[in-house]
Amino acid sequence: MGALLGLLSGTAPAHAIVNGTKAVRMPPYMASLREYGRHICGGVILDDRTILTAAHCLQRQSPPDALSVGVGSLQLSRAALYPVEKYVAHPRYSVFVAYDNDVAVLKLATPLTFRPGSVGPVGWPSSSDRPPYGETLSIAGWGLLSEGGSAPDDLYTTSVSGLRNDEEGCANYSREGRLSDTMFCAGYPDGHTDACQGDSGGPLVNRYNELVGIASWGQGCARPGRAGVYANVSKLHSWIKANT
Ligand code: ARG
Repeated sequence: MGALLGLLSGTAPAHAIVNGTKAVRMPPYMASLREYGRHICGGVILDDRTILTAAHCLQRQSPPDALSVGVGSLQLSRAALYPVEKYVAHPRYSVFVAYDNDVAVLKLATPLTFRPGSVGPVGWPSSSDRPPYGETLSIAGWGLLSEGGSAPDDLYTTSVSGLRNDEEGCANYSREGRLSDTMFCAGYPDGHTDACQGDSGGPLVNRYNELVGIASWGQGCARPGRAGVYANVSKLHSWIKANT
């Protein structure tokens, strides 16, 4: 009802990611992956030469020199751009189950300049094999503000909850056999807020800003019974370490 009144009176908040809010502070580890200069996906800073993203962001197999990474600004158009030297996708990306092992590592041609509060590496959770079920997590990105909608220049962020495979919001995917152990869901049973196209590859972090997931896929965006699906960083950690 509040939302309806908002729409009628023209004061609906700008929705984003889907139903998130404009980020007020730059998550220092947040990056934008560009292909021929255009934002295609999110990314995560691991160290001054290494960016983590989703493997499916690179499935067109563009030459590395078509790619660059933007960092350090809430506005896409104001980011500092760094050329990519090479990249490697997980060798078992998407073999039997679509989006299985959806991670890739990019190496930059020149090291990032770290700046406290705007450019720096993400933290890692202290060893745990368990996805962050029931925890409040946050995702940020420059993806679409609604399914099939427009893309912002500003970074948006939202909170989601880590879901077990049999929980409402995730159980449909489970029943359909679409989840592997390199994936977990995060969102809400009623949809409500979610990542969307263009947010893939971006960081899902816990309340300590430690990386727990990478935005991977979802059926539509913010649909009831269809939470966002994230690459499970804890299961992919050894591959990521070996390729950093
Ligand atoms: N795969 C999409 C991308 O390339 C979106 C990922 C997230 N979708 C979602 N509904 N949570 O950006």
